Amino acid sequence: MQISQVAVVGAGTMGASITVALVGAGLKVLLKETEQSFLDRGLANVDRFLAGKVKKGLLSESEAAAQRTLIEPVLDFSRFAEADFVIEAAPEALNIKREIFEQLDQWCNVDAILATNTSSLSISQIANFTRRADKVVGMHFFNPAHIMKLVEVIPGLETSHDTVKTTLELGASLGKLSVRVEECASFLVNRLLGRYMNESLYTLQDGRASVDEIDKAAQDFAMPIGPLALRDMNGADIGLAVANFNYLEYGERFAVPAVLPLMVAQNLLGAKTQAGFYTYDTETRKRQGVNPALTPLLASIKADSDATGKKSAKDIAVLPAFDGAQLFLPMINEAFLVMQERICQPEDLDPALMAGLGMRRGPLAMAAEIGLKDCLTLLENRFAAGEERFRPAPLLKRFVFAGRTSVI
Ligand SMILES: NC(=O)c1ccc[n+]([C@@H]2O[C@H](COP(=O)([O-])OP(=O)(O)OC[C@H]3O[C@@H](n4cnc5c(N)ncnc54)[C@H](O)[C@@H]3O)[C@@H](O)[C@H]2O)c1
Repeated sequence: MQISQVAVVGAGTMGASITVALVGAGLKVLLKETEQSFLDRGLANVDRFLAGKVKKGLLSESEAAAQRTLIEPVLDFSRFAEADFVIEAAPEALNIKREIFEQLDQWCNVDAILATNTSSLSISQIANFTRRADKVVGMHFFNPAHIMKLVEVIPGLETSHDTVKTTLELGASLGKLSVRVEECASFLVNRLLGRYMNESLYTLQDGRASVDEIDKAAQDFAMPIGPLALRDMNGADIGLAVANFNYLEYGERFAVPAVLPLMVAQNLLGAKTQAGFYTYDTETRKRQGVNPALTPLLASIKADSDATGKKSAKDIAVLPAFDGAQLFLPMINEAFLVMQERICQPEDLDPALMAGLGMRRGPLAMAAEIGLKDCLTLLENRFAAGEERFRPAPLLKRFVFAGRTSVI
């Protein structure tokens, strides 16, 4: 299917950057908002992103100006019949998505594909708000969408093969790695990221490593930024909402580390409150040192866990010394669970994580490097010490039993 006219619903954080990605590929965009002031704000961000590309030498002034003319701001759906493909990037609330998809179904051409950029809602449920569930699909961009190199394409139960194919092709035409991911909570990349982010918090609250040690180990091992610095960047409140959601969906192995709700309760949200794992300069927002307020907070968690007898210092002492690999063990284990559920093709897994998170290597490459057998032993030891989140994935065991040393 040939796509020339796209419509984007919502000109917020994602809508503005998705629009820049689309015009960068020469596509015309109808950009819809609910109020003129929101449109103006979105377009100001579009201009800022385009100017950023010019500054980096990725575009000339005249190319940026030409791309800008491809955008037509609108405040209603009356011109949506012109769109071949719609990307909805409105707030993450089911009632808002319902209203929008009911409208889209009425206004759009019967052949038009309706994609949602939702991070956590069910594609099948959103599709059910229309009479064209075969043409509704998840198209999950990463923030900022004009820079990040991954798009997850998520079919709902009724989504047709053609819809998936067209959406994958559109993602690729934007210069992105476009990967099919089956519907599951948090999809592929954020599901695996969630396990790793939680592990960094457990490592801290169990006293196994300090803030600096954790962030340095993750960076040395594979990451462009440490998990605690990243938590501060995105906000502990957002992190807690995501962690609670994953726990509800997946259960015990995604149990929320105690430090996270405590930080939210104490307004230690990260850069936006100038205090999180680190402190931040009030004016420049530049990161300073480790936040001293963490010391009493971590001591209170330890006192609580000692009192309930959940974990003693003795239990911690029998664990292997902290190293970067251990931060990634739960992510590696989750990668095997994901493969077991056939959420994606195994060969897409590492590239998706690398494109989505900027990792230097993905969890399957890490597993091969540590050794599948050693990964299993590490997981088994932690699981035997009573830590449910290390219960080894059955598929990892099968690879080890089969004598395999790598996945792909
Ligand atoms: N922010 C992220 O990092 C991120 C990453 C991936 C996916 N997502 C998902 O993308 C979607 C948008 O997130 P966001 O962070 O851009 O939100 P946002 O709040 O920044 O922007 C949403 C915009 O939609 C507008 N809007 C609301 N109702 C509308 C309607 N009926 N028609 C047109 N516009 C409408 C709002 O005015 C607002 O400007 C959510 O589903 C979110 O889960 C967000």
